[in-house]
Amino acid sequence: MALREIVLYGNPALRIKARTVDEIDDDLRQLVQDMVETMDAAEGIGLAAPQVAESLALCVVNNGLIDEDAEPQAYINPEIIHADGEIEVEEGCLSIPDVREDVRRPETIKVRYLDIDGKQQEEECGGMLARVLQHEIDHLNGVLFVDRISSIKRQLLQKRLKLIATGG
Ligand code: NI
Repeated sequence: MALREIVLYGNPALRIKARTVDEIDDDLRQLVQDMVETMDAAEGIGLAAPQVAESLALCVVNNGLIDEDAEPQAYINPEIIHADGEIEVEEGCLSIPDVREDVRRPETIKVRYLDIDGKQQEEECGGMLARVLQHEIDHLNGVLFVDRISSIKRQLLQKRLKLIATGG
């Protein structure tokens, strides 16, 4: 296992649409393990492959923070196939340190994905898991949560974002 470097706002890797995973092999399983370890070390609740500069449609979620008996879980090629309701919740991102903003998103979703064994799964969820998965799936499309706040709020963050992008 190894920690991976988390790339920050301004890194082009965060803006690329991730490639579909077409084979779950040892390299991919290793990447998942590394991502879980990296997420835990950073005390994150979710991490998407583009955040460790891997253009693959894959994210991991620290389900243990949501339900203490649950293990971290990989979602491979995840897609939202149904969404309901709307709710505003504060979000942050390991790639955008020290920035937290309210973001409006659907409240409950249904996600289709492959698990680490390559089995297709469908999961309906709400609450924290729905929020994290939507945030991570955005990453796979090159979208960041600060893209989803009002332009006025984003304007107020410009200085901070620029500092992150320039390594400040
Ligand atoms: Ni994020």
